[in-house]
Amino acid sequence: MLFLPADTGAVSVGADDVAAAIEACSISQALDVRIVRTGSRGAYWLEPLLEVATPAGRIGFANLSAGDVPALFAAGVPTGAHPSCLGLVDALPWLRQQQRLTFARAGIIDPLSLSDYRDTGGLAGLERARALAPQAIIHEVVASGLRGRGGAAFPAGLKWQTVHDTPAAVRYVVCNADEGDSGTFADRLLIEADPMQLIEGMAIAARAVGAAQGFIYLRSEYPLAARTLDRALHVAREAGVLGDGFDIAVRLGGGAYICGEETALLESLEGRRGVVRAKPPLPAREGLFGQPTVINNVLTFAAVTEVLARGGAAYAGHGVDRSRGTMPFQLAGNVTRGGLVEVPFGITVRALVEGFGGGCASGRPMKAVQVGGPLGAYLPESQWDAPLAYESMAAIGAMLGHGGVVVFDDTADMGEQAQFAMEFCAHESCGKCTPCRIGSTRGAEVIGRLRRGESVAASRALLDDLCETMELGSLCALGGLTPMPVRSVLRYFGHELVPAMPAPLGEEVPA
Ligand SMILES: Cc1cc2nc3c(=O)[nH]c(=O)nc-3n(C[C@H](O)[C@H](O)[C@H](O)COP(=O)(O)O)c2cc1C
Ligand code: SF4
Repeated sequence: MLFLPADTGAVSVGADDVAAAIEACSISQALDVRIVRTGSRGAYWLEPLLEVATPAGRIGFANLSAGDVPALFAAGVPTGAHPSCLGLVDALPWLRQQQRLTFARAGIIDPLSLSDYRDTGGLAGLERARALAPQAIIHEVVASGLRGRGGAAFPAGLKWQTVHDTPAAVRYVVCNADEGDSGTFADRLLIEADPMQLIEGMAIAARAVGAAQGFIYLRSEYPLAARTLDRALHVAREAGVLGDGFDIAVRLGGGAYICGEETALLESLEGRRGVVRAKPPLPAREGLFGQPTVINNVLTFAAVTEVLARGGAAYAGHGVDRSRGTMPFQLAGNVTRGGLVEVPFGITVRALVEGFGGGCASGRPMKAVQVGGPLGAYLPESQWDAPLAYESMAAIGAMLGHGGVVVFDDTADMGEQAQFAMEFCAHESCGKCTPCRIGSTRGAEVIGRLRRGESVAASRALLDDLCETMELGSLCALGGLTPMPVRSVLRYFGHELVPAMPAPLGEEVPA
């Protein structure tokens, strides 16, 4: 049996062509092969990665192209002795050094096979949840310490408790699969590799809060994920995982970053333009169509299956401080081994980008690492020994967000990155509040002036004012967090933003 990902990332580098070439080869050589199209293991730097089942385990062949296939299959189904052969995939240090709870099945099972899912521990969480009272399910999630993986890190159990406790005839469960952060792909990877896990997690949430209808808000840029989800939902309904008191519908977003913000997402789901709602009321009290609503990220729902299957305390056994469990980090940008790395909270930035990532793909020195998406801080080498956990990131003026980690080499212009942060906010602002709508446009202009060395002292003071106004006066985190990347550039790469006021790396430029 052969395994080859049908994941968007693998397909984008030719996995479908490799599959077609293997089929052609097996027909011409009368080979008896079955190709299972899996999701990706997240080892994107090895894609397309073909795996061949052998009595010893699965042997991997990396970075194949269709043209490699005839030589690879020249002597029948390959079991080694080829330049692309990696040996046993499970023995790769990159995989062995991870602790995969949420992505344990990714790249291993057929994403649409419920029996594969069940054989690898799937549905154990839902079966347990069905035997528990709703309040007992919530207690498990509270005990796990699980915090929302979408970015805001709100405790999942507390949110579910609020929805459970709010009197209402109708409650909803909504999955946020908008995944707008730069360099992030974990939600898509999970949906394409293991969609049943998301479905199971949402079914557990529905039972905990008494919801009959769920929605998955998926970004329209993920057509393969949409197709996989549709098929998986069909399989789940046929098998009775869904349909018995709870069902899920998929809705496609239109491509606005702000539609990932939970209240703008609800507006969009209700058929209106994605504009942020003022809070309170929280969506947990008045969410979709005014009803109490659990909104969680794909990875949060997926983690809940593990929490219920093994118990909240077991999940809480991983991690540091109030950052419990594991975090799927996504390594992107100028990095040698880009992909998904799931490890307990507490790994250092350096261990992630140098150990797992292997440094810059360009071979040049690494200069900055942006953690947490477009609103996250740019960290210089002096900060790379900081542990990746909610508390330790906050302590250095950074955040984890959705776990996106983007690497830059020494050719990156950090002044340009600061300007980009403001321009991104101006482009994606929903326009509801002035600090964000106007502040980001003015911010981009002021940074432009600073970079050109115009009115430096006044521009620098104005930039500080703008940042403070955006932080304190914005209605949501888009405007409120945009100053984070800008301030990190000022703090650590100030001389690149203000060439007229040179300062050594690592020192803040004086106002
Ligand atoms: C501008 C903005 C964009 C966001 N984009 C996403 C997103 O793409 N996916 C996501 O899960 N959460 C996103 N969030 C966070 C959501 O508002 C919300 O906190 C999350 O869906 C709650 O789920 P969780 O608790 O499981 O993380 C965004 C927030 C903001 C302010
Ligand atoms: S901060 Fe920006 S995105 Fe958020 S509500 Fe205000 S205008 Fe809209």
